[in-house]
Amino acid sequence: MAFCRLVLLAIGVCCLTKTSNGDDLVLALEDEFKTFNLSLWKHELTLSGGGNWEFEAYLNNRSNSYVRDGVLYIKPTLLEDQIGLANVKDGFDMNIWGGSPADLCTQNEFYGCERTSGAGGNYLNPIKSARLRTAESFNFKYGKVEVKAKAPKGDWLWPAIWMLPRHQQYGMWPTSGEIDIMESRGNPPSYPPGGYNSFGSTLHWGIDYFHEFFSKTHATKTGTDLTADFHVYGLIWNETYIGTYFDDESNVVLSVPINQSFWSMTGLKSPPWDNPWVGAGNNAPFDQEFYLVINLACGGTVGYFPDGNGKPWSDTSPHAVNEFYDAKAQWYSTWEGESSALQIESVKVWVYPSISTVNGHPIKTEFVRDPATTGPHYSN
Ligand SMILES: *[C@@H]1O[C@H](CO)[C@@H](O)[C@H](O)[C@H]1NC(C)=O
Ligand SMILES: *[C@@H]1O[C@H](CO)[C@@H](O)[C@H](O)[C@H]1NC(C)=O
Ligand SMILES: *[C@@H]1O[C@H](CO)[C@@H](O)[C@H](O)[C@H]1NC(C)=O
Ligand SMILES: *[C@@H]1O[C@H](CO)[C@@H](O)[C@H](O)[C@H]1NC(C)=O
Repeated sequence: MAFCRLVLLAIGVCCLTKTSNGDDLVLALEDEFKTFNLSLWKHELTLSGGGNWEFEAYLNNRSNSYVRDGVLYIKPTLLEDQIGLANVKDGFDMNIWGGSPADLCTQNEFYGCERTSGAGGNYLNPIKSARLRTAESFNFKYGKVEVKAKAPKGDWLWPAIWMLPRHQQYGMWPTSGEIDIMESRGNPPSYPPGGYNSFGSTLHWGIDYFHEFFSKTHATKTGTDLTADFHVYGLIWNETYIGTYFDDESNVVLSVPINQSFWSMTGLKSPPWDNPWVGAGNNAPFDQEFYLVINLACGGTVGYFPDGNGKPWSDTSPHAVNEFYDAKAQWYSTWEGESSALQIESVKVWVYPSISTVNGHPIKTEFVRDPATTGPHYSN
């Protein structure tokens, strides 16, 4: 890492680092998880399963998300441990609508705020987990992100470190883009689609749900056990380049030089199709502020875990969640305590003084850091 903490603390001023070509960047966010700052990281509260009929419920519970000794853990647990297996399977109303400002269900789509077990013949989301986002605290445009993380080990676990657009400037997903820095699977390295020795980085973009072109901007990195140690998952994002790296900037994973518009990359013609990025620069939709999302999902029917390879559920089954949970004896023994947790040691974001914004504001070039404080710091 390019900047020196000791010097910073001594003078308390300025946090410059350099990109590989020598551009100055200033530190805009730093969380080393001395505390669990829920003002920065807001829990999503939903049973909606990411829109992919995933098997987790995202809740705010210190059994599933907690900070200890400078590490943030997102750890999956079983709902049956809380409400009993019979209730997971039938006749139990799980209502997370909430009432106080911090309790409100964050996504009702896909029966996200209330489900009754047995309705439609399906169990409740049998896994409890967490998904955290900075949508209400930290949004930024252009910069460098480094998240130091240890991936979870355990069959059918799906950790992700990613970013979503603050204002949906170009419309609903995927027209306003999505930046996936890291996602992986907790299955063993022998798992054909890729296990915990492999991760992917992806830009999602397109003109609608059915015309999505992520495969043109997707890359995987294989060959390191991501669960053995903490590794840096990095992103460099500016007007002419979006790319990710592993541990060191020179170790590039995804590389997207932006030398044409994303519209021209679709290959679609107008008419009949409309360009959702009409009037914007070549790098639209990646020319707007995004916020960070960190979560641990499980399973789902979207194809991230393709049918076959020992998968106990079928993506086309109307009762995929039951098939998954009825096979608990096959997978639960692979979830061993905190090794099944996504662990985060630090999150850092640097921004470009000339072109970046944070929470809608331009960057002040003189960034003064108060050496007495810990936790995140802002450039404005
Ligand atoms: C927690 O995050 C907020 C930003 O949402 C920040 O203003 C505050 O300084 C942070 N607190 C600590 C203790 O780091
Ligand atoms: C949090 O999760 C634990 C473990 O499942 C459970 O025992 C506890 O009841 C939950 N707390 C709340 C407030 O739901
Ligand atoms: C954008 O990032 C690339 C890759 O690091 C770099 O070569 C380029 O100079 C950057 N552009 C700006 C404006 O800093
Ligand atoms: C534009 O970038 C792509 C990679 O995204 C590269 O394959 C292509 O050669 C580049 N085209 C030009 C004209 O530089």
